[in-house]
Amino acid sequence: MKTYKIAWLPGDGIGIEVLEASKIVLDKLNFAAEYIHGDIGWEFWCTEGDALPKRTIDLLGNVDAAMFGAITSKPVKEAEYELVSELRNKGLVYRSPIVRMRQTFDLYNCFRPTKAYKGNPLNLKDDIDIVVFRENTEDLYVGVEFSPVPKELSDTLQKLSKPFATFANLNGNDYAISCKINTINGCEKIIRTAFEFAKEHGRKKVTVIHKANVVRATDGLFLEIGKRVAADYPEIQFDEGNIDAMTMWLLKNPERYDVLVAPNLYGDIISDLCAQMVGGLGFACSGNIGKKLAVFEPTHGSAPKYAGQYKVNPIATILATKLMLDWLGEKEMALKVEKAVAQVVEEGKVRTYDMGGNASTLEMAQAIADCI
Ligand code: IPM
Ligand code: MG
Repeated sequence: MKTYKIAWLPGDGIGIEVLEASKIVLDKLNFAAEYIHGDIGWEFWCTEGDALPKRTIDLLGNVDAAMFGAITSKPVKEAEYELVSELRNKGLVYRSPIVRMRQTFDLYNCFRPTKAYKGNPLNLKDDIDIVVFRENTEDLYVGVEFSPVPKELSDTLQKLSKPFATFANLNGNDYAISCKINTINGCEKIIRTAFEFAKEHGRKKVTVIHKANVVRATDGLFLEIGKRVAADYPEIQFDEGNIDAMTMWLLKNPERYDVLVAPNLYGDIISDLCAQMVGGLGFACSGNIGKKLAVFEPTHGSAPKYAGQYKVNPIATILATKLMLDWLGEKEMALKVEKAVAQVVEEGKVRTYDMGGNASTLEMAQAIADCI
């Protein structure tokens, strides 16, 4: 069997303990891998002015896949506040390492399945099985931002855009601009990925999420491309909805939804909503998938207040390993992981605090490994 090269990026906070837990499950499967540790996280921002050092980017260019834990993105200890303002004074700007990984390696597909496992006391309803596809590199995440707004940009905008005249008398220091940029290629790639997934997995419906009635240029493009791509998949029902209404409908009738596809920011928001309906962030896993590399992670953050306590639920990370195994083509192993998670959740004997129990992070992982 092939020995995979896996970049192992625990990050900080609870990222470290949930990745440790997921390793218990991977080892039980006898997954043949060389795990290569990568430096990433708040610590490296404080010491090197870079939370994702170049050596880690080089590592990512040289592996089959990566497992990522979580990263703290603001000062936690008193002493760090001063350090952070020093870095800012030097002109260094903190940018989220996970966003940078997505953009550096064109991990355009953020794949977030949210399924209600039977017996989970946290399920909103028991028949939820929604797969979210989130565009992962563009939109409001491009990082093209201005604060203050330079005069030449302000003048150009006022020349080009009528409604912008409202701001005619404002000084560049009085407002800020964050650009939402969506390309035809970016929209098409993620929407096609969603339809292909639906086709391959016998899913019935794909819902394209947007706010095209107001954000006409970018969201209008997303919706238009959604319709165009849908025409290539007549066997799959095409559906669309405004992001605001979608949050209501999803909460009211989650069982009516199947595959969702959204631009970056709406996908970020809607995937947290879907996660909450099936147990919260302790159950939410993500794949950040490109053509050559994929980075798998729990969707939750680093939760510094729980760090080192080994109490958080590792299921999100264990399900992320399932996504990784699937992506690597190790379908049988992936299936085993999911079955074991489903069994432990259904039996209900081992539960972490979020599920009303008192099992530790590692006890939960061990219980899952024992079912394999
Ligand atoms: C997510 C997170 C990230 C995002 C943060 C940590 C930058 O919320 O993966 O959903 O906004 O994409
Ligand atoms: Mg998010």
